[in-house]
Amino acid sequence: MTRNILVTSALPYANGSIHLGHMIEHIQTDIWVRFQKMQGNQCYYVCADDTHGTPIMLRAQSEGISPEALISRVHEEHLRDFRGFHIAHDCYHSTHADENRAMVRDVYLKLRDAGLIESHTIEQYYDASKSMFLPDRFIKGQCPRCGAADQYGDNCEACGATYSPTDLINPVSALSGTPPVRKASEHYFFKLADCADFLQQWTRSGTLQKEAANKLDEWFGAGLQNWDISRDAPYFGFEIPDAPGKFFYVWLDAPVGYMGSSLKLAREQGLDFDAWWNPGHDTELHHFIGKDILYFHALFWPAMLHSANYRTPTRLHVHGFVTVNGAKMSKSRGTFITAGSYLDNKLNPEWLRYYFAGKINGSMEDIDLNLSDFTARVNSDLVGKFVNIASRTAGFISKRFNGQLSGQLPDLDLLNDVQQAADSIAEHYENLDYGRAVRDIMHLADLANQYVNDRKPWDMARQEGQESALHDVCSISLNLFRLLTLYLKPILPALAEQVEYFLDIPPLHWQDAHHLLTGHTIRPYQHLMTRVEQSQIDAMLAANASQAQPTTPLQPSEKTMQKASDTPATDNNAFISIDDFTKIDLRIARIANAEHVEGAEKLIRLTLDIGEDRPRNVFAGIKSAYDPANLIGRLTVMVANLAPRKMKFGLSEGMVLAASGEGPGLFILSPDTGAQPGMRVK
Ligand code: MSP
Ligand code: ZN
Repeated sequence: MTRNILVTSALPYANGSIHLGHMIEHIQTDIWVRFQKMQGNQCYYVCADDTHGTPIMLRAQSEGISPEALISRVHEEHLRDFRGFHIAHDCYHSTHADENRAMVRDVYLKLRDAGLIESHTIEQYYDASKSMFLPDRFIKGQCPRCGAADQYGDNCEACGATYSPTDLINPVSALSGTPPVRKASEHYFFKLADCADFLQQWTRSGTLQKEAANKLDEWFGAGLQNWDISRDAPYFGFEIPDAPGKFFYVWLDAPVGYMGSSLKLAREQGLDFDAWWNPGHDTELHHFIGKDILYFHALFWPAMLHSANYRTPTRLHVHGFVTVNGAKMSKSRGTFITAGSYLDNKLNPEWLRYYFAGKINGSMEDIDLNLSDFTARVNSDLVGKFVNIASRTAGFISKRFNGQLSGQLPDLDLLNDVQQAADSIAEHYENLDYGRAVRDIMHLADLANQYVNDRKPWDMARQEGQESALHDVCSISLNLFRLLTLYLKPILPALAEQVEYFLDIPPLHWQDAHHLLTGHTIRPYQHLMTRVEQSQIDAMLAANASQAQPTTPLQPSEKTMQKASDTPATDNNAFISIDDFTKIDLRIARIANAEHVEGAEKLIRLTLDIGEDRPRNVFAGIKSAYDPANLIGRLTVMVANLAPRKMKFGLSEGMVLAASGEGPGLFILSPDTGAQPGMRVK
C-alpha cells in the first residue's frame, strides 16, 4: 500500500548561517524522505526560513537594510547550502509569505472562536530610549543566585540558574545599556492549560520517542502555563487580525509555516493540501526537530492543531545536538562549522552525509563529529570498501568483454544473501536507525571484497581458459556493487546517480533489489570518490576560526521555554589567551566586615581589605549560603579591577570568587595558610 507522507525539518532562523547543527537535522530528514520515495511512497518534504521576531528585526537595522531585504538574502544563502548537501526539499519557503499569513490568520481565528484566546495586561521591561519592549535575552544584569555580572535575562551562564528578567540585579538593556523601566501592556494568550487532557492522551499515543515522552511527563507534572502569543510593535511579524499594533509572537507563526509551505507546494504541483492537514485522511505527518524545541512541537503545536480542527502530527523525530571533537561547537576553535565553509573548502558533502548517517540511531543523544574519525571512516568505508568493489573489477568487463555482463550468473549464494538483506535494511531506515543500516551494508561490502579476494580476477586474467570464470566473477562483483549502491542511495544520492550512469540503468528503487543485472552493457568505469585529506579539514577549521566574532545581542534566539542545559551549542567554552587572563587582577582579600543589606534578598555587603589604604566595598550574592557573622576575618579571593558598578544599595567595587554546581550551595574560595591580604593571584 502506498503511504502518503508529509515531512518537515524545523525552520532555520533567517538571521544566521546554516551550520552542522542544522545539517544533522536536514541530512537525517532527507535520508528518510529519499528512502520513502525509493519505496514508492508519496512523500513530500517541506521546510522554510523562520523569518520573524526581534533578533531579525534588529539585525536588519544594524546592517542598515529592511528585514525583507535581509531575509531574502539569507534565503538565497540557505538554499545554496542545502542544495550543496543534496537536501531535496520539495518546497523551501519562508514564514514571511502570503500562504503563511493566510494560514496563521485561519488558525488564530479558529482558536479564538473556540474560546482559547484570552487577553490581559502584563508588566514587562521596556527600553525607553529605543521605545521597545525587551525580550528576555536582551536584558542583562547580575545573576540573582551567584551574583555573576553580565548575565542574560533568562538564565545564568555562570551557575546555570534560570529565572525571569525581573529577578536580575541591576538590569540593563543590552540594546542601549540603559536601565529598563517596567511598562504595562495588553497581551494575548493561548489557553494551553485547557488542552492538558488532550495533550496527555496525544503524548501517549506513540507519537514520541520514550525519552521525549518522559520529558513531557516532567512538564505535565510542573503544570501547563498559558502561552503569551503576542508582541508589541515594533516587531517584524504578522499583525494580529483583531488587535492593531499587536503582532503574533514568532513561535506562533513558525510551526504554522509548515502549513504555509505545504500550501505553496500543493498549489504549485496540484496536490491535496486538505488530505495532509484535515483530520480523517489516511496521511502521515512527520516532524524532525532538535531536542531544544520539543516544548513547542509536543505541546503548543499539537494543541493548536487539535483546537483549530486540524490533524495532529503522526510522529515527532527528536534528535540531539552536534558536538565537534567531543565539545560544543566553538567559534574561536573553528568548530562552529558552517555548511558554507565545508562546501567552499571542497569537502565532499556525501562524506558528511555518510558519517552522520553512521551515527544516527533515532535517539535524542548528542552526536559527535570527531574529525579524525571522520577521515578514517570515510576513507576506509566508502573509498576502501565500497568503491573498491567496482574499481577492482569494472576494467576487466570493459577491456575483455566489451562492457557486457555475463548473461547468466552461477554462484548465486552471496548475491542472494545480499538481496535478502533488503528488508531488514529497509526497516532500519524506516526506524531512523541509519547507524545499523550502515553497519549492515558495510558488513555486506566486506563479504563482497572477500569474494573478490578469494577469486582473484587479476590472476584469472593472466591464465588461459579462465575467460568465462573471470567474466562471471566480475559480473557478480558488479551486481553486488549495484545492490550496495541501492542500499546506500538514500545517504549517497549523488554517488548513486554516478553509479546509475556507469551501469547505464534507470534510477534505482527499493524493489530493484529483487532482480539482477545480466547480459547488460555498462559504460567504462570512471573514478567515483576521492579520499578525505587532512589539509581540507585544516582549511575548513581555519576558515571558521577566522569568522569568529564575539557574540552580540543579535545572536540569541527567542527560545524561552528551555532549560539552560538545552540551549543550542554556541560558544560557551571558547578559549581565552593568557594575555586576556592576566588582565584580571585577582587579589587575596581579608573580609574586614560582612553585613546584611536592608531590602536585598540575596546580597551581603562585604568590606574587603586588600592591603590598600582604603578597603573595598563589594556586594556579593551569597546570602543564601552564608551568615555574615561567620565570614568576618576570613581570607578569600577577589577580582580587584572589575569596573565599579552602581547598585541600588551603593557602589560595588569588585567581586569575590565562589564556586557552585548544578545543585544548591555556594562556596567562596579561600587561599592556603600563609597568604596575606593584597597578594596577587596568578
Ligand atoms: N526557528 C526555530 C524552529 C522553528 S520550527 C517551527 C529554530 N531555529 S534554529 O535555526 O535555531 O534551529 C533549527 C533546527 O536546528 C532545530 O531543530 C534545532 O534543534 C537544530 N539545531 C540547531 N543547532 C543545533 C545543534 N548544534 N545540533 C543539532 N541540532 C541543532 O529553532
Ligand atoms: Zn548565576
